[in-house]
Amino acid sequence: MTPTLILAPLRGITEAAFRNLFARFFPGFDRAVAPFISTFQGQRVKPGKLKDLLPENNKRLAVTPQIIAKNADNFIATANLLADLGYTDVNWNLGCPYPMVAKKMRGSGLLPFPDKIEAFLEKVCAGQPLAVSIKLRLGRREPDEIFDLLPLFNQFPLTEVIIHPRTGIQMYEGTVDLDTFSRCLELCRHPVVYNGDITSITVYRQLAKQFPSVQNWMIGRGALADPFLPARIKNMQLPGTPLETIAAFHETLLASYGAGPHERHLVLSVFIFYRWA
Ligand SMILES: Cc1cc2nc3c(=O)[nH]c(=O)nc-3n(C[C@H](O)[C@H](O)[C@H](O)COP(=O)(O)O)c2cc1C
Repeated sequence: MTPTLILAPLRGITEAAFRNLFARFFPGFDRAVAPFISTFQGQRVKPGKLKDLLPENNKRLAVTPQIIAKNADNFIATANLLADLGYTDVNWNLGCPYPMVAKKMRGSGLLPFPDKIEAFLEKVCAGQPLAVSIKLRLGRREPDEIFDLLPLFNQFPLTEVIIHPRTGIQMYEGTVDLDTFSRCLELCRHPVVYNGDITSITVYRQLAKQFPSVQNWMIGRGALADPFLPARIKNMQLPGTPLETIAAFHETLLASYGAGPHERHLVLSVFIFYRWA
C-alpha cells in the first residue's frame, strides 16, 4: 500500500510559502502539519499567526493547523477561529522540547501530567468543532511517561497520534527509541504516525519493514536535506536535473520572502546544499 507522507512542522521554515513551493517543486507529500501557533491570554491569537493558515495561502498542500496550549479554554477559542477559516481538524503540540516552552507546562512540559492532559482533552473534545490529533514525544524526562498517556488517549476520539520517539530533554540528540515506539503501537487504538530521523530511503524501508502496521509517516529534516525523499519513497519519477530543480525552488522561495538576504534563506541553503553540493 502507498504510504501517506506528512510534512513535519518546522517552525521558522515550513510556513505557508515553503509548504506551497515545496509541493510545487517536489512531489510526494500528501499533507502537512503547520508549525504551532500559541494561544494568548484573553484568548487572542496574533493576527500574523493566522495569516500563515489562511486558506488562500495554502492552496497546494492540505494542512492541519497546530496549537500549543495548556489552557483548554484558550485552545477552544483558537480552534473556533480555525473552524471559521474552514478547517476541520487541529493538532495539539505535546512535543516541543525547548525549556522556555516546557517549563511553562506546554509542549513536552505537559507530558508528566496525565491528569492535566485528561482534563484538557475532556474539555477540548467536547467544546469545539474540530477533530483533534496529538503530536508528542515519549516523555519529558523518561521514555515511559507515554504509557500513562496512551490509555487516556484511547478514551477520546482522536484522529491520529504522531509519535517522535525521543524524550523532551533529549532534544534532537541520541537515537530514536524504536523499542518504546513499538510498544506504543500495541497500546494505541488510534492510527499512529511515525516521526523522527527518516533521512533516507534506506532508513524509511527499514522502518516500514519493522512497523508494517504504520501507514502514515511524518518527515521533517530529512526532506530538507533531500527534498526528493518523499518521491523516492513513493517510487515517483525524479527530474532529470535535480540540482536545477533545487535551485529553481530556492530562487522562487527567496523571491517569495522578499528581496535581500534572509535568515531562512541561509537556513535552507545550509540544509539543502549540505546534501547536494
Ligand atoms: C527548526 C525546527 C522547528 C520545529 N518546529 C516544530 C513545531 O512548530 N511543531 C512541532 O510539533 N514540531 C516542531 N519541530 C519538530 C519536528 O516537527 C519533528 O518532530 C522533528 O524534527 C523530528 O522529525 P525529523 O527527524 O523528521 O525532522 C521542529 C523541529 C525543528 C528542527
